[in-house]
Amino acid sequence: MPNSTVTRPQADVRFPDHIRHDHARQWIAEMVALCKPDRVHFADGSQEEYDRLCQELVDAGTFIRLNPELRPNSFLARSDPSDVARVEDRTYICSLNKADAGPTNNWMNPREMHQILDGLFDGCMKGRTMYVIPFSMGPLGSDIAHIGIEISDSAYVVVNMKIMTRMGQQVWDVLGEDGEFVPCAHTVGMPLADGQPDIPWPCNPGTKYIVHFPEERTIWSYGSGYGGNALLGKKCLALRIASVIGRDEGWMAEHMLILGVKDPQGQKTYVGAAFPSACGKTNFAMLIPPKPFLEEGWEVTTIGDDIAWIKPGPDGKLYAINPEAGYFGVAPGTSSKTNPNAMISCAKNTIFTNVALTPEGDVWWEGMDGPVPERATDWQGHDWTPDSGRKAAHPNSRFTAPADQNPAIDPEWENPKGVQIKAIMFGGRRASTVPLVYQSFNWSFGVYAGATMGSEQTAAAFGQVGEVRRDPFAMLPFIGYHMGSYYNHWLNIGRKVVDPPRIFNVNWFRKDKDGNFMWPGFGENMRVLKWVVERANGRGRATESPLGYVPHYDDLDWRGLDFSKEQFHELQAIDRDLWLHEIAGHEDLFIKLYDRMPKEFLAMRELLISNLWRSPEHWDVETAGTINS
Ligand code: OXD
Ligand code: MN
Repeated sequence: MPNSTVTRPQADVRFPDHIRHDHARQWIAEMVALCKPDRVHFADGSQEEYDRLCQELVDAGTFIRLNPELRPNSFLARSDPSDVARVEDRTYICSLNKADAGPTNNWMNPREMHQILDGLFDGCMKGRTMYVIPFSMGPLGSDIAHIGIEISDSAYVVVNMKIMTRMGQQVWDVLGEDGEFVPCAHTVGMPLADGQPDIPWPCNPGTKYIVHFPEERTIWSYGSGYGGNALLGKKCLALRIASVIGRDEGWMAEHMLILGVKDPQGQKTYVGAAFPSACGKTNFAMLIPPKPFLEEGWEVTTIGDDIAWIKPGPDGKLYAINPEAGYFGVAPGTSSKTNPNAMISCAKNTIFTNVALTPEGDVWWEGMDGPVPERATDWQGHDWTPDSGRKAAHPNSRFTAPADQNPAIDPEWENPKGVQIKAIMFGGRRASTVPLVYQSFNWSFGVYAGATMGSEQTAAAFGQVGEVRRDPFAMLPFIGYHMGSYYNHWLNIGRKVVDPPRIFNVNWFRKDKDGNFMWPGFGENMRVLKWVVERANGRGRATESPLGYVPHYDDLDWRGLDFSKEQFHELQAIDRDLWLHEIAGHEDLFIKLYDRMPKEFLAMRELLISNLWRSPEHWDVETAGTINS
């Protein structure tokens, strides 16, 4: 709960009658006194309010209304060029004890941080409206859901939160007089002096703080109006704060998509998958199976594309919900080839940020279908032509689209009990070393694989090309406490549940000697997914490799794809030297996390090494020998 030991002055706020929660009233009155907005607006989440705010954003120059015939009820926003992505170096976990934040998070003493923020927030909303935005992460009233109240001086935030969460008046009803909520304070950090005109994208280019107080369960965000920095339900609440709540209460907040696979017999299997940012989670969550699979009756449906909250149910199995209600998807590369369902999801009622605008009043981005426009307006509002030598859309440009516009949305996506997870997949972007798919021997080995997963750098700007950045469970930027304790939490969950989900590791990005991708990816990933689902249900065949169980060529369904046995063996090969090097690389991480590292990881590491030494130097499934199932 909020910083209850500090008494702050309170402003005299006229609350609507339906807000009966004393503590929420007190916190809002304190924030009004501190931020000093000109007006306070209690968001009700109605369509009328959404339309009115969008029109105000158009009038302010923040939004451009897109051509209603091409993109009904949709808008384009262009951010300040300095405010285009999450700011990891300005993101803090301010636990009371520095050790609890761990070596992978920025930390500052909470008292010091509060002093800084109190100074910055003092008068930060002068000349602006404070919006009070009540939202539920998860279906309203679900046992797994959590409520947040965001105060923000950005109408862009209000309308995005309406799409991304269950936002509005009904949240106050669920909260009642004493329900729990996470206070989320957000400001763009640009107060207006008397008469000073506003600008389309106010933010504070020089000063940004994205701060989490895990013990208080509060979030303060200053200076940015963009994405995960400003829509505080997403990364801040649903991952960083929720991971702490989950640690304390025995459940998991994960950077995972959730999808459902229906086989031709009608059996539905739900799968969670953690891939780092920009590794294709949205594409995989909305996968369309290849034609022969569709004809036979296979179906893939989406529960969520980014975040999963997973809880042990009364029957001892794991149940997951998607806490979000919309997609904040990366636009570039999205097309009706790579992700038709995403294209339909953002065909209407969508807010685009930092994509290009066509002369017809539609949006465009690199990798979209159809011809490249001869001219367009780029994400910064400048004229653009294909040979202007720069990108028309920012690489991190986004669409904010309602989840229920996805034609493949799963019928259970709003089930307050969640769906039972039977398989978990981990994957990164690895040009070498990691095979297309293997199943970890058991839960603990799976946790080891998740804990050591990494992605290779693709651009020199992020470090040496080919260098592996370890991104445990794809949670490196999102874990709200010590990474080593998080590993232990994962191991503990496996001890608590009956028949824990099977864990699989995938790599869609392996390259051959000439630097070409070896695997076609996208819809073809269904072939791997089918095997995963069969294994998770105790059916599919597999062989023991040094790393875990792998399929033989004949264990995957190749109908409709020309992919030879030789290609498959190359894609699945396990090279001893590369793997010894890989495992040696785990050591760097383990040393960093030493004080809270699970001891069993050391034993598992030794076992993997000894497996490699008793296998051929270049292991592939053809030469492997016996088949175990
Ligand atoms: C996202 C991210 O926006 O992971 O989902 O960065
Ligand atoms: Mn994400």
